[in-house]
Amino acid sequence: MILVKNGRIIDPETKRDEVIDIIIKDGKIYRIGKYQITDEYERVIDALGYVVAPGLIDVHSHFRDPGFTYKEDIESGCKAAAKGGYTTVICMANTNPVVDNKETLSYIKEKAEKAKIRVLQTASITKNMCGEELTDMEKLLEAGAVGFTDDGYALKDTKTVLGAMQEAKRLDTVLSFHEEDPSLIDKAGVNKGKVSEELGIPGASHCAEDVMVARDCMLALETGAKVNIQHVSSGNSVELIRLAKKLGANIWAEVSPHHFSLTEEAVKRIGANAKMNPPLRTEDDRFKLIEGLKDDTLELIATDHAPHSAQEKEKGLLEAPSGIIGLETALALGNTYLVRKGHLTMMKLLGKMTYKPARLYALNAGIIKDGGDADLVIFDPSEAWIVKSDFASKSNNSPFIGEKLYGKIKFTICNGAIVYEEN
Ligand code: DOR
Ligand code: ZN
Repeated sequence: MILVKNGRIIDPETKRDEVIDIIIKDGKIYRIGKYQITDEYERVIDALGYVVAPGLIDVHSHFRDPGFTYKEDIESGCKAAAKGGYTTVICMANTNPVVDNKETLSYIKEKAEKAKIRVLQTASITKNMCGEELTDMEKLLEAGAVGFTDDGYALKDTKTVLGAMQEAKRLDTVLSFHEEDPSLIDKAGVNKGKVSEELGIPGASHCAEDVMVARDCMLALETGAKVNIQHVSSGNSVELIRLAKKLGANIWAEVSPHHFSLTEEAVKRIGANAKMNPPLRTEDDRFKLIEGLKDDTLELIATDHAPHSAQEKEKGLLEAPSGIIGLETALALGNTYLVRKGHLTMMKLLGKMTYKPARLYALNAGIIKDGGDADLVIFDPSEAWIVKSDFASKSNNSPFIGEKLYGKIKFTICNGAIVYEEN
């Protein structure tokens, strides 16, 4: 048994916020209350001054396995997740081969069973992510896929999206969309605007995102499908999602930490490690994302953890692939840029990283309750630290290296086992 003593339990689902102890036994939360230290505990964690919350859940990670394991694999991805306080991660399907078939899914599921945190896998919406023919969603669900996405690519054909949504509604599953119309993008990864002009490079317009968000909001409304808009970056998209929700669409939306903490200005300072799709945008966009997080138009914070090797990122702004790692900095970024700036309470921030993602995917997780799985993150919300390049991820493509953040993870517990402990 493990005793977690004197921590401040913050559980957003039940709204519990109190200093209390937790006993963990056989992988479960055995008791919540006040307990004496005795020798029946194999470990006593002194959590005085720390927050104890449900293990974080990320609905948007790239573990690159199979196919690009020099960037990340399931094992290293799990280490990064655990170090960042995550106990459940949902992986994207843009591996090689793409997760559009049972065999690739089985390979990942087998590896995931041995992993130290919960790794769930999406399958692609279209075969080989070509945007044309739908995958056999029913068969892939039976084989263990938790949802569907062509993340990395936008679906150009409206009728294909309509068909996917009708099928997702029938099967009661989740579709997640990367919203950037490639025909409106000169070059992906950097916002088309002031900074791209200053640098004399082509860019990706917010309009490419807005038009696709508008289309998919209306298709979600029409079909009743459960639709997740991934990594929202444009202020107009927030307005569109707000409207669609008001009209009754079953729309969910994610914000990635980099989009609420950085703007396009970072590209000038940081270069390729500030290049991602959709790109960092303007201060006005960032402000609207924060407004959307505040009024729950945007219910999820998702990392879009996208590892790339140093060699790939060294190719420079134009040639380097888009994407940055995010699992190890997400909680501290939320704490630093949203909680400490007074935009969100800690309760609300944690809700967007725990029970809301669990609800989207109907997971039995993201809550601290008697008898529930013992998935916990324990962190010091006031400790400052400087982000270094010593990530647990195989890659270190982070724009936050050198930055001072607040909120340091001390322990991550998954299924009753300590899967990360500081030092
Ligand atoms: O920047 C990105 N990189 N955005 C995505 O949607 C995909 C990701 C990747 O797979 O590298
Ligand atoms: Zn994406």
